[in-house]
Amino acid sequence: MVTRPRVVLIGPPGSGKTTAGEALAERLGIAFLDSDQLVEQSAGRTISEIFVEDGEPVFRRMEADAVRRALETHDGVLALGGGAPMQKPVAEALHGHVVVFLDVTITDAARRVGFDGTRPLLAVNPRATWTRLMQERRPTYERLATHRVDTGGRDVKVVVDEVAALI
Ligand code: S3P
Repeated sequence: MVTRPRVVLIGPPGSGKTTAGEALAERLGIAFLDSDQLVEQSAGRTISEIFVEDGEPVFRRMEADAVRRALETHDGVLALGGGAPMQKPVAEALHGHVVVFLDVTITDAARRVGFDGTRPLLAVNPRATWTRLMQERRPTYERLATHRVDTGGRDVKVVVDEVAALI
């Protein structure tokens, strides 16, 4: 039997992919996977360590591999790191899946994750960098998504209700 994620969550850092994804998976009684966690598990290192020791291109290859494997085998909720959908093989592999873009403003993203230094791309000037990345990435998020859900300032339960209703 071919299995596939019931829903794939995309969006920028701070959009609540992990929080909403875990809550959604629990609500539906299915498993939750996160591409960042998959990369960290297979590398045995944190994402920051991979960026520092090997550089971003190596991280992106590991990320694309992890997403491809998860899209082929995982029958649950899958959250992708914010930059994953910008990779062509990842974007192509998303075709045919239910893909939900979790949209958020800079204010709500900052409130949610606090830009705490755990994301290497946001280590310097996090607010300006987040804003630039979101401008660059929004068209891709919108193109790849089958649905868009606002998460800013909303309770996770409300977000989960909205995403669950789409499946
Ligand atoms: C990244 C987002 C992070 C993580 C890595 C790169 C990005 O995931 O994959 O630090 O390019 O935006 P989250 O979106 O879960 O923070």
